[in-house]
Amino acid sequence: MTTDIKIGKHALINPGCIISHDCRIGDFVNLGPGVSLAGWVTVEDGADLGVGAVVAPRCRIGAGAIVGAGAVVVRDVEPGATVVGVPARR
Ligand SMILES: CC(C)(COP(=O)(O)OP(=O)(O)OC[C@H]1O[C@@H](n2cnc3c(N)ncnc32)[C@H](O)[C@@H]1OP(=O)(O)O)[C@@H](O)C(=O)NCCC(=O)NCCS
Repeated sequence: MTTDIKIGKHALINPGCIISHDCRIGDFVNLGPGVSLAGWVTVEDGADLGVGAVVAPRCRIGAGAIVGAGAVVVRDVEPGATVVGVPARR
């Protein structure tokens, strides 16, 4: 069960995504297949998360940021940044 998720306009949520409670997903976001968002995650407008990316609780993915395939985000990602790896780094 989950609750209180908000999804913006034209957001693309591919198959197999997990979106947990209290997430905020902005406009024109792309969540690749199998992306997992823990609770209280915010994905700002236009951010792009690659296949299988994982985002830890309460992290914020800044507008237009790119999260590489398979990355594990444990800290906020700055707007426009590209991060990859485990843990995800610029
Ligand atoms: C992160 C990403 C955007 C980078 O793309 P790019 O700028 O073209 O980067 P490159 O392929 O030139 O790779 C640059 C370096 O980053 C590394 N790298 C690229 N993607 C990586 C990833 N996901 N995880 C770890 N390292 C990665 C490459 O190995 C390379 O390292 P090197 O310089 O030591 O050889 C891309 O690789 C990616 O992960 N895209 C996700 C696509 C996806 O899942 N789409 C879903 C569509 S529904």
